Amino acid sequence: MDRTFVMIKPDGIQRGLVGEIISRFEAKGLKLVAARFERLPEGRVIEQYQEHLTKPFFASLKSYIMSGPCFLMVWEGRNVVAIARSLIGATNPQEATPGTIRGDFGIDIGRNVIHGSDSLQSADREIGIHFRQNEPVTYTRIDESIIYEY
Ligand code: RTP
Ligand code: MG
Repeated sequence: MDRTFVMIKPDGIQRGLVGEIISRFEAKGLKLVAARFERLPEGRVIEQYQEHLTKPFFASLKSYIMSGPCFLMVWEGRNVVAIARSLIGATNPQEATPGTIRGDFGIDIGRNVIHGSDSLQSADREIGIHFRQNEPVTYTRIDESIIYEY
C-alpha cells in the first residue's frame, strides 16, 4: 500500500470543511494513518514548498499557509497519491471539476483549500517533513477485504 501527505489549508479550516473533506477520503476507502492540527512554522512551509521558492507567488503562498492552523494527514491505500489528487481536483479551483474538493469549495488559486502530494517521491519527502518516522499507525480497516479485490 502507498501513503500520501494531505493538508487542509487555513482557508479550509476557517470555513469548517475539515469534516466534509475527511468524509470524502474515508468514503472512498482510503485509510487515515496519521493526523495533526497545527500552525506550521516557517521552516516547514519552506521545506514543503521547496520547488516554489523562486516563484513570484511564493511570498503570498507562505503567508497564506502560515495565516492559521492547518490539518495535516497521511492517507494510505492502493495508488493513493493519484486517487487523492483526483479527489482534490485541479490546482486552480475555477478549472477544477465539480465533484472535486477544489471544484466544489474554492474560487481563487491562492485559496484552494487543500494540498496533496504530486508523486510517491514527493509523498515520502513531505511525510518526512511533517511526521516522525513512527507516527503513522499501522492497522487494518475492517472493510479492507471488501474494498480491495485482491
Ligand atoms: P498543492 O501543492 O498545494 O497541493 O497544489 P498543486 O500541487 O495543485 O499546485 P502547485 O503547483 O504545487 O502549487 C502549490 C500551491 O501554490 C499556490 N499557487 N499559486 N498564484 C499562482 O499562480 C499560484 N500557483 C500556485 C496554490 O495554493 C497551490 O496549491
Ligand atoms: Mg504541489
